[in-house]
Amino acid sequence: MEIDRRAFIATLGGTAAVSMMDSEAKAEALEHYMEEKLDEQVAAAQGTAPKNPTVAELEAQIETRGYRRGVGNLFVGSQGGKVKRLEPMPKNAKLQDFFRLRFMPANHVLQSATRAMKTGMSEEIILACLLHDVVQSMIKVDHGWWGAQLFEPYIPEKATFAIRYHAALRFYPDSDAGYEYPDLYYRIFGQDYQPPEYIASTYKMVRNHKWYMEPRLMTVNDLYAFDPNAKVSIDPFEDIIGRHFKHPKDGLGNDNSPSAHMWRTLANPDAPL
Ligand SMILES: [Fe+2]
Ligand SMILES: [Fe+2]
Repeated sequence: MEIDRRAFIATLGGTAAVSMMDSEAKAEALEHYMEEKLDEQVAAAQGTAPKNPTVAELEAQIETRGYRRGVGNLFVGSQGGKVKRLEPMPKNAKLQDFFRLRFMPANHVLQSATRAMKTGMSEEIILACLLHDVVQSMIKVDHGWWGAQLFEPYIPEKATFAIRYHAALRFYPDSDAGYEYPDLYYRIFGQDYQPPEYIASTYKMVRNHKWYMEPRLMTVNDLYAFDPNAKVSIDPFEDIIGRHFKHPKDGLGNDNSPSAHMWRTLANPDAPL
């Protein structure tokens, strides 16, 4: 079987991640990769590979749902079912309280941050990985911008930059950095999807920015194969949060910062107005 070396390295998290693996782990990863590829080839030959939808097919599904795809997770029941009663936030709520009570299960961001830590990323990038998608509890549309806005008053500028632009960069491969276009996106955006003009121009701006590698390394450590059984916790990140997250003394939502209202929205999504 022919192996696309770059694609294989990208599945492992890029050259930096590979350099930290011992030879046994590399051999095992290669075997696993080849098995998956073989399964894909067999499925394709038998015509059983799941077909990715087109943009038009996805648009035709809009009126089949009782909610819009960009809605935040707190505002819609899973699979469109009923929502659950939420435990109230404690007084002086901290980031960790929001993780426990509003961003759960948060597996994806915890796994991404764990990987960033293992691959020796800077603390800003580890923090960005830990926070990059949690705003999806509130809203999914343009989540890079919303997420950056939510955290901007409290975290280092480079971490905000990484969160804001990771969402645009995900559409643009960078093989040298170990990032390939995710297969998942053919499924969720459509096989023939082209990012809109504002995403394309944002990418161009960031590509030439001196901080390009901040959001790029964030995308490299972003994970697309979510393991629902992985045991992850926020504990290993306590020190990084302590060093880089400026908690307001009266709790998130109570400090009149430019994003305090967003924290209140997350705290109380059942408020009617
Ligand atoms: Fe994201
Ligand atoms: Fe992500």
